[in-house]
Amino acid sequence: MDIFNKIDTTFGPLGQYMEQAHGYYMFPKLEGPISNKMIFNGKERLVWSLNNYLGLGNHPEVRKADAEAAAEWGLAYPMGARMMSGQTKYHEELERRLAAFVNKEAAYLLNYGYQGMVSIINSLVDRRDVIVYDSEAHACIIDGMRLHFGKRFVYPHNNMENLEKELERATKIVEKTNGGILVITEGVYGMAGDLGNLKEITALKKKFKFRLLVDDAHGFGTMGKTGAGTGEHLGVQDEIDVYFATFAKSMAGIGGFVASNKKVVSYLMYNMRSQVYAKSLPMPMVIGSMKRLELLQNEPEHKEKLWTIVNALQKGLRENGFDLGNTESPVTPVFLKGGVVEATNVTRDLRENHNIFCSIVSYPVVPKGVIMLRLIPTAMHTLEDVDYTIKCFSEIKKNLDEGKYGGEHIEKMVVK
Ligand SMILES: Cc1ncc(COP(=O)(O)O)c(C=O)c1O
Repeated sequence: MDIFNKIDTTFGPLGQYMEQAHGYYMFPKLEGPISNKMIFNGKERLVWSLNNYLGLGNHPEVRKADAEAAAEWGLAYPMGARMMSGQTKYHEELERRLAAFVNKEAAYLLNYGYQGMVSIINSLVDRRDVIVYDSEAHACIIDGMRLHFGKRFVYPHNNMENLEKELERATKIVEKTNGGILVITEGVYGMAGDLGNLKEITALKKKFKFRLLVDDAHGFGTMGKTGAGTGEHLGVQDEIDVYFATFAKSMAGIGGFVASNKKVVSYLMYNMRSQVYAKSLPMPMVIGSMKRLELLQNEPEHKEKLWTIVNALQKGLRENGFDLGNTESPVTPVFLKGGVVEATNVTRDLRENHNIFCSIVSYPVVPKGVIMLRLIPTAMHTLEDVDYTIKCFSEIKKNLDEGKYGGEHIEKMVVK
């Protein structure tokens, strides 16, 4: 059989929808400066789907720092991987600042969050060890585990009873193999906005011996008094053995970092294959990240503004009868009832007739019969944006309840 056969047949789990979805539901082009309003399909739309939580993506000081660093250093600098020829004092300085901010002894930069996470997991475990992880873990966690030769046990999302059972199973195994246990959770779950049960998980350390790795991609910058993340928010930062965050969200950049005690970070520096064998973060991203971190730490108004928008949006939607699940973070899922046809028509109506651009998730990511619209509030949004969106969502819900987005109504709902 030709390995290209799958290209003619299934096209992959997401690729199978390409024909209907490409350019609109998948790979849409958002044009114009990063903001609360951007151009989609030639028209201005209110955008609720960028993880630009603190609005730093287009902050003038950030743009200036990026541009000046690019002018001074170019994008090539430093050439090579950190271990070979890509080390600079700027990388080390940013690491010192990040470590101090998240209250860990040391930190190490990652050239992408995704690859970084894959290698953190891969470096920390060997075949004697057992990984215990949450069923809603991000793809980068799953891919990291795919490299693991030992056992891995999954517990249903945030289900502490099951986690305990899996820890009992894992403990029995590592007693025989002489290995250890790594528990992996997220701080903020990026799809539905609920928090990993960090308090309960860390409390289990009294009963079981394990190390905890937290992916706080969505919590860094948005959660906690100082913005240091979900561990800070829940008062358990010290119990997190390995803390991970990306620059792709609150920091509005590229890259990420891992933080822990000095020994663990040194070990990771010498063992994370995606970092040892790949190019260092380019200088504009390093110097630009220092500026972002400075704003994140010294200008709390960005986080305050974010939360003003989050609270208004979530309160308003809830008061208007919307089900937002268990979110406790800026991520705002809106759960509606309907199948894929309704989901696509709702999205089209929102985009074309209300000029609202948000992400949509339907089966198989959520259960059959459920539509999830996912809104990401940012510091760039206004309270008018919130009021307008709640008004439009109420109209959408009414239409949906009246069956107006069913198959035979498709034409009516498309572009006015
Ligand atoms: C929970 C989570 N972890 C990791 C990543 C990967 O980070 P990056 O975009 O820096 O590769 C993402 C997405 O960006 C994410 O949402």
